[in-house]
Amino acid sequence: MSALPATPLDLAPLEPILARYPADRRSLVMVLQDVQAAWHYLPREVLNRVAERLAVPRSHVYHVATFYKHFSLTPRGAHTCTVCMGTACHVRGAGLLVEHLERRTGMKAGDTTPDGRLTVETVNCVGACALGPVVIVDGQYVGSATARKVDRALEACMGHAERKPEDSGITSNGGDSLGAGTDRQASSVVAWGRPPDPQTPTASGDGKEDTE
Ligand code: FES
Repeated sequence: MSALPATPLDLAPLEPILARYPADRRSLVMVLQDVQAAWHYLPREVLNRVAERLAVPRSHVYHVATFYKHFSLTPRGAHTCTVCMGTACHVRGAGLLVEHLERRTGMKAGDTTPDGRLTVETVNCVGACALGPVVIVDGQYVGSATARKVDRALEACMGHAERKPEDSGITSNGGDSLGAGTDRQASSVVAWGRPPDPQTPTASGDGKEDTE
């Protein structure tokens, strides 16, 4: 499920973006990059305004917006977690990482959490096959990724939850070199997803997804 804006879009952030560049078509990609950074996607209203201000046909703006995978026409989360599902990563367990993230967030890969904080997505080969499986969290590569490493990377980007572990239904029975497996870690994991079903094996508890 994607988070849609509840109110009419505030276009105010567009003015300082446009002011950074010459008002012609050579600026289009740079403007779109800044728009994507500001809204985490390319809102239709903004694209139309950009076309007017840069004196570029809307058709060309949409062509560019859909040509580059970096750009999204649908709302994305403030944070992104991208799992590489290329062959090298797939055979090293990338599918289990996707399942872990889907279970934690309660949504399918490709969706954004209802609060608009996190998008989970998959891609094919990000060019770091030797590090597989690879997960990219807010642009940071996590090599030889495990569920626990991904949890930690997300936690670092999205912050800790104040929620108590007894509220989460998570039990922690594993440790690691950074002290994971503590109640604090169990608490923070739910910051970016729904509390897992207590009956559902967790990454730290089933021994399948996290081999570190
Ligand atoms: S298959 Fe994942 S980086 Fe190449």
